[in-house]
Amino acid sequence: MATDLGVDVEVLKREIKKTYASVSQEPQRDFVFPTGRAWAEDLDYPAELARVPEGAVESFAGVANPFSLGRLKPGEQVLDLGCGAGTDSLIAAQMVGSEGSVAGIDMTAEMLEKARAAAVELGAENVEFVEGEVERLPFADMSFDVVISNGVIDLVPDKDAVFSEIHRVLRPGGRIQIADVTIQQPVSDEGKRDIDLWTG
Ligand SMILES: C[S@@+](CC[C@H](N)C(=O)[O-])C[C@H]1O[C@@H](n2cnc3c(N)ncnc32)[C@H](O)[C@@H]1O
Repeated sequence: MATDLGVDVEVLKREIKKTYASVSQEPQRDFVFPTGRAWAEDLDYPAELARVPEGAVESFAGVANPFSLGRLKPGEQVLDLGCGAGTDSLIAAQMVGSEGSVAGIDMTAEMLEKARAAAVELGAENVEFVEGEVERLPFADMSFDVVISNGVIDLVPDKDAVFSEIHRVLRPGGRIQIADVTIQQPVSDEGKRDIDLWTG
Protein backbone atom coordinates (compact mmCIF):
# COMPACT_ATOMS: atom_id res chain seq x y z
CA MET A 1 0.00 0.00 0.00
CA ALA A 2 1.44 3.39 -1.04
CA THR A 3 1.48 6.13 1.61
CA ASP A 4 1.18 9.86 0.96
CA LEU A 5 5.01 9.80 1.17
CA GLY A 6 4.99 7.78 -2.08
CA VAL A 7 6.63 4.74 -0.50
CA ASP A 8 4.98 1.33 -0.56
CA VAL A 9 4.84 0.29 3.09
CA GLU A 10 4.73 -3.45 2.43
CA VAL A 11 7.79 -3.26 0.16
CA LEU A 12 9.58 -1.06 2.70
CA LYS A 13 8.86 -3.49 5.55
CA ARG A 14 10.07 -6.42 3.47
CA GLU A 15 13.36 -4.60 2.76
CA ILE A 16 13.78 -3.53 6.40
CA LYS A 17 13.28 -7.13 7.55
CA LYS A 18 15.85 -8.30 4.99
CA THR A 19 18.39 -5.72 6.18
CA TYR A 20 17.97 -6.56 9.87
CA ALA A 21 17.85 -10.32 9.25
CA SER A 22 21.37 -9.81 7.81
CA VAL A 23 22.42 -7.78 10.85
CA SER A 24 21.32 -10.72 13.01
CA GLN A 25 22.75 -13.50 10.85
CA GLU A 26 25.94 -11.91 9.50
CA PRO A 27 26.97 -9.58 12.34
CA GLN A 28 30.60 -9.32 11.15
CA ARG A 29 29.52 -7.78 7.83
CA ASP A 30 30.28 -4.15 7.10
CA PHE A 31 26.94 -2.32 7.05
CA VAL A 32 26.36 1.32 6.07
CA PHE A 33 25.56 1.94 9.76
CA PRO A 34 27.73 0.99 12.77
CA THR A 35 26.94 -2.15 14.75
CA GLY A 36 28.25 -4.28 17.60
CA ARG A 37 29.78 -3.98 21.07
CA ALA A 38 32.51 -1.48 20.13
CA TRP A 39 29.80 0.87 18.81
CA ALA A 40 27.77 0.57 22.03
CA GLU A 41 30.93 1.28 24.05
CA ASP A 42 31.60 4.38 21.90
CA LEU A 43 28.09 5.54 22.84
CA ASP A 44 29.00 5.37 26.56
CA TYR A 45 26.57 2.59 27.34
CA PRO A 46 26.06 1.87 31.06
CA ALA A 47 28.02 -0.80 32.95
CA GLU A 48 25.18 -3.34 32.44
CA LEU A 49 26.39 -3.67 28.81
CA ALA A 50 29.24 -5.90 30.02
CA ARG A 51 26.80 -8.66 31.06
CA VAL A 52 24.79 -8.64 27.80
CA PRO A 53 25.68 -11.84 25.92
CA GLU A 54 27.67 -11.52 22.70
CA GLY A 55 24.84 -13.03 20.62
CA ALA A 56 22.76 -9.91 21.33
CA VAL A 57 25.47 -7.22 21.29
CA GLU A 58 27.11 -8.38 18.08
CA SER A 59 23.83 -7.42 16.35
CA PHE A 60 23.34 -4.14 18.23
CA ALA A 61 22.29 -1.56 15.63
CA GLY A 62 21.19 1.41 17.72
CA VAL A 63 21.87 5.01 16.71
CA ALA A 64 22.55 6.48 20.17
CA ASN A 65 22.16 5.71 23.88
CA PRO A 66 18.62 5.94 25.33
CA PHE A 67 20.01 5.41 28.87
CA SER A 68 21.89 8.72 28.59
CA LEU A 69 18.43 10.24 29.32
CA GLY A 70 18.44 8.50 32.72
CA ARG A 71 18.66 5.09 34.35
CA LEU A 72 15.53 2.99 34.69
CA LYS A 73 14.33 2.41 38.24
CA PRO A 74 13.99 -0.92 40.04
CA GLY A 75 10.44 -2.25 39.66
CA GLU A 76 9.55 -0.32 36.49
CA GLN A 77 7.68 -1.95 33.61
CA VAL A 78 9.42 -1.16 30.35
CA LEU A 79 8.59 -1.53 26.65
CA ASP A 80 11.44 -1.58 24.10
CA LEU A 81 10.06 -0.62 20.67
CA GLY A 82 12.00 -2.32 17.85
CA CYS A 83 14.22 -4.23 20.28
CA GLY A 84 16.26 -5.96 17.57
CA ALA A 85 18.61 -8.59 19.05
CA GLY A 86 17.82 -7.32 22.54
CA THR A 87 20.80 -5.30 23.81
CA ASP A 88 18.73 -2.41 25.24
CA SER A 89 16.04 -4.76 26.60
CA LEU A 90 18.64 -6.83 28.46
CA ILE A 91 20.26 -3.70 29.91
CA ALA A 92 16.78 -2.52 30.97
CA ALA A 93 16.05 -5.94 32.51
CA GLN A 94 19.15 -5.61 34.72
CA MET A 95 18.22 -2.05 35.76
CA VAL A 96 14.59 -2.79 36.72
CA GLY A 97 15.48 -6.05 38.51
CA SER A 98 13.23 -8.94 39.44
CA GLU A 99 10.41 -6.66 40.64
CA GLY A 100 10.28 -4.99 37.21
CA SER A 101 9.74 -6.33 33.72
CA VAL A 102 10.65 -5.64 30.10
CA ALA A 103 8.81 -6.41 26.87
CA GLY A 104 10.72 -6.08 23.61
CA ILE A 105 8.79 -5.96 20.34
CA ASP A 106 10.22 -6.30 16.82
CA MET A 107 8.94 -7.38 13.40
CA THR A 108 12.13 -9.25 12.34
CA ALA A 109 11.92 -12.87 13.53
CA GLU A 110 15.68 -13.49 13.17
CA MET A 111 16.44 -10.63 15.57
CA LEU A 112 13.95 -11.96 18.14
CA GLU A 113 15.50 -15.41 18.01
CA LYS A 114 18.85 -13.93 19.06
CA ALA A 115 17.23 -11.78 21.74
CA ARG A 116 15.46 -14.78 23.29
CA ALA A 117 18.63 -16.89 23.28
CA ALA A 118 20.57 -14.04 24.91
CA ALA A 119 17.92 -13.63 27.64
CA VAL A 120 18.26 -17.33 28.50
CA GLU A 121 22.07 -17.04 28.53
CA LEU A 122 21.88 -14.01 30.84
CA GLY A 123 19.33 -15.79 33.05
CA ALA A 124 16.93 -12.83 32.71
CA GLU A 125 13.46 -14.07 33.64
CA ASN A 126 11.87 -10.63 33.69
CA VAL A 127 12.00 -10.05 29.92
CA GLU A 128 9.84 -11.27 27.04
CA PHE A 129 10.27 -10.76 23.30
CA VAL A 130 7.20 -10.41 21.10
CA GLU A 131 6.91 -10.42 17.32
CA GLY A 132 4.81 -7.51 16.07
CA GLU A 133 4.72 -4.02 14.60
CA VAL A 134 5.20 -0.82 16.55
CA GLU A 135 2.27 0.84 14.77
CA ARG A 136 -0.10 -1.74 16.35
CA LEU A 137 1.13 -2.72 19.79
CA PRO A 138 -0.30 -5.97 21.18
CA PHE A 139 -0.38 -4.58 24.75
CA ALA A 140 -3.16 -3.27 26.96
CA ASP A 141 -3.73 0.43 27.60
CA MET A 142 -1.61 1.92 30.40
CA SER A 143 0.61 -1.14 30.87
CA PHE A 144 4.09 0.47 30.98
CA ASP A 145 6.00 3.06 33.02
CA VAL A 146 8.66 3.70 30.38
CA VAL A 147 8.97 3.25 26.62
CA ILE A 148 12.51 3.01 25.27
CA SER A 149 13.50 2.77 21.61
CA ASN A 150 16.69 3.02 19.58
CA GLY A 151 16.89 3.66 15.84
CA VAL A 152 13.41 2.42 14.98
CA ILE A 153 10.84 5.21 14.58
CA ASP A 154 12.91 6.74 11.75
CA LEU A 155 12.17 3.53 9.80
CA VAL A 156 8.39 3.84 10.17
CA PRO A 157 6.44 6.02 7.69
CA ASP A 158 3.37 6.34 9.95
CA LYS A 159 4.99 8.04 12.94
CA ASP A 160 1.63 9.36 14.21
CA ALA A 161 0.46 5.75 14.67
CA VAL A 162 3.60 4.93 16.71
CA PHE A 163 3.26 7.95 19.00
CA SER A 164 -0.45 7.36 19.44
CA GLU A 165 0.31 3.75 20.48
CA ILE A 166 3.05 4.90 22.86
CA HIS A 167 0.56 7.31 24.45
CA ARG A 168 -2.02 4.53 24.77
CA VAL A 169 0.24 1.95 26.46
CA LEU A 170 1.98 4.37 28.85
CA ARG A 171 0.55 4.91 32.32
CA PRO A 172 -0.25 8.50 33.34
CA GLY A 173 3.09 10.07 34.32
CA GLY A 174 4.98 7.54 32.18
CA ARG A 175 7.98 8.60 30.13
CA ILE A 176 9.81 7.95 26.87
CA GLN A 177 13.56 7.55 26.38
CA ILE A 178 14.04 7.47 22.63
CA ALA A 179 17.26 7.54 20.62
CA ASP A 180 16.61 8.16 16.94
CA VAL A 181 17.61 9.92 13.75
CA THR A 182 15.98 13.21 12.86
CA ILE A 183 16.45 15.29 9.74
CA GLN A 184 16.68 19.05 9.75
CA GLN A 185 16.35 19.58 5.98
CA PRO A 186 13.33 18.90 3.75
CA VAL A 187 13.63 15.60 1.83
CA SER A 188 12.80 15.58 -1.89
CA ASP A 189 9.89 13.44 -3.16
CA GLU A 190 12.43 11.29 -4.96
CA GLY A 191 14.37 10.83 -1.70
CA LYS A 192 11.19 9.82 0.13
CA ARG A 193 10.56 7.10 -2.45
CA ASP A 194 14.12 5.71 -2.21
CA ILE A 195 13.87 2.53 -0.11
CA ASP A 196 17.67 2.42 0.37
CA LEU A 197 17.56 5.78 2.14
CA TRP A 198 14.89 4.44 4.52
CA THR A 199 16.65 1.17 5.35
CA GLY A 200 20.15 2.67 5.69
C1 LIG B 1 18.26 -0.03 13.61
S1 LIG B 1 17.58 -1.54 14.24
C2 LIG B 1 17.70 -1.21 15.97
C3 LIG B 1 17.49 -2.44 16.81
C4 LIG B 1 17.68 -2.24 18.30
N1 LIG B 1 16.82 -1.19 18.82
C5 LIG B 1 19.13 -1.93 18.63
O1 LIG B 1 19.38 -0.82 19.16
O2 LIG B 1 19.99 -2.74 18.32
C6 LIG B 1 15.86 -1.29 13.86
C7 LIG B 1 14.95 -2.43 14.32
O3 LIG B 1 13.61 -1.97 14.19
C8 LIG B 1 12.80 -3.03 13.70
N2 LIG B 1 11.63 -2.41 13.05
C9 LIG B 1 11.63 -1.52 12.04
N3 LIG B 1 10.38 -1.14 11.73
C10 LIG B 1 9.56 -1.80 12.59
C11 LIG B 1 8.15 -1.85 12.78
N4 LIG B 1 7.33 -1.11 12.02
N5 LIG B 1 7.66 -2.64 13.76
C12 LIG B 1 8.49 -3.40 14.53
N6 LIG B 1 9.83 -3.42 14.39
C13 LIG B 1 10.37 -2.62 13.44
C14 LIG B 1 13.74 -3.79 12.75
O4 LIG B 1 13.28 -5.11 12.58
C15 LIG B 1 15.06 -3.70 13.49
O5 LIG B 1 15.28 -4.79 14.34
